[in-house]
Amino acid sequence: MGFGTFVYNQLVVQPPLPSLSFADQTVIITGSNTGIGLETARHIARLGAHKIILGVRNLSAGETARQDIETSTGRPNACEVWHLDLASYDSVLTFADKALSLPRLDALIENAAVATKLFHLADGGYEHSLTVNNISTFLLALLLLPKLQQTAHSFPSRFHPPHLTILTSQVHAWPQFPQWKDPRGVFTALSDPRTAHMDERYPVTKLLGVLLTRELVSQIKTKMEPNNPPVIINMVDTGFCHSQLSRENKGVEELAFNLFKRLFARTTEVGARTVLAAASAGREAHGGYMVNGVVATEAVSGFVCSEDGKTAQKRVWEELGGILEGVRPGVMGGLK
Ligand SMILES: NC(=O)c1ccc[n+]([C@@H]2O[C@H](COP(=O)([O-])OP(=O)(O)OC[C@H]3O[C@@H](n4cnc5c(N)ncnc54)[C@H](OP(=O)(O)O)[C@@H]3O)[C@@H](O)[C@H]2O)c1
Repeated sequence: MGFGTFVYNQLVVQPPLPSLSFADQTVIITGSNTGIGLETARHIARLGAHKIILGVRNLSAGETARQDIETSTGRPNACEVWHLDLASYDSVLTFADKALSLPRLDALIENAAVATKLFHLADGGYEHSLTVNNISTFLLALLLLPKLQQTAHSFPSRFHPPHLTILTSQVHAWPQFPQWKDPRGVFTALSDPRTAHMDERYPVTKLLGVLLTRELVSQIKTKMEPNNPPVIINMVDTGFCHSQLSRENKGVEELAFNLFKRLFARTTEVGARTVLAAASAGREAHGGYMVNGVVATEAVSGFVCSEDGKTAQKRVWEELGGILEGVRPGVMGGLK
């Protein structure tokens, strides 16, 4: 995306206020105690969802968010706060097992992410932000996909097939990403402290998210009726928004970034509108990359669409599959 398009999107385009009902639906939103996730939960409460599960790593922040959403929307008891720390596989497995016992799950909105330049390893031995933004995000997706599919069969709706919506960003187009060729594997190479370039780590995780979502869609496509996905899987770029994402910035970097935000950032409420558009989009949005609330295939980076990108996509998926099978044997079988 060129700078002109960026400025136009940020300052001129205003995605419409979401109005499609979520009545009767159960929705999970990860990282919904603050930022875009919080405003997404608020919109979904306003639109009448039966139950909104706030998946948060900090329960007291989640409780504050719950009270804020319920008071501002006049929807007491609309939300539940569940613990979810994506840096811990045990936490993801516990969360998913609990979610599998829900009567229905209409949308899983995978919003939580971290942007850090500090290198440290998380549970499982991979770099922390890869674990949070990619490995655990897809672990949760694969564990709950059968529940979304089951909801599609048990509660058929002409307007609202269940959705798996993954938050991405235009910054996925920034990194060079030579690690896709590393014979050790991408996650292993990116978790090597000697060669990790943490300055571009957040964009790399967003690129991996795009590659993995596209491969997930292509794996499922071969196993379902063409043009009739029981679950709509898509990606959304919210545009540049005010939020806590850059919380680690300090000094001059913080000043410069805050000035840039003041000039160009959307409110988190407006960013959340684009998430709602993705989580209520029709079948035409399956596999799609959405910007400003509409499918925008042209916004996917040149690398992702290239032959190298397609090879990288397969490699990353295969490697992820091996990692996830180590965490919960059989999890990749949910695709069958
Ligand atoms: N802001 C933007 O300009 C922008 C643009 C495009 C896409 N996005 C995407 O939008 C999504 C939301 O970001 P945001 O801007 O709203 O950022 P944010 O305000 O920092 O919110 C991120 C959320 O993720 C949670 N989180 C972080 N690590 C976690 C972990 N280990 N386990 C569970 N939850 C965790 C945070 O919880 P804590 O509060 O406990 O840290 C917080 O609730 C992200 O996927 C981001 O990549 C943002």
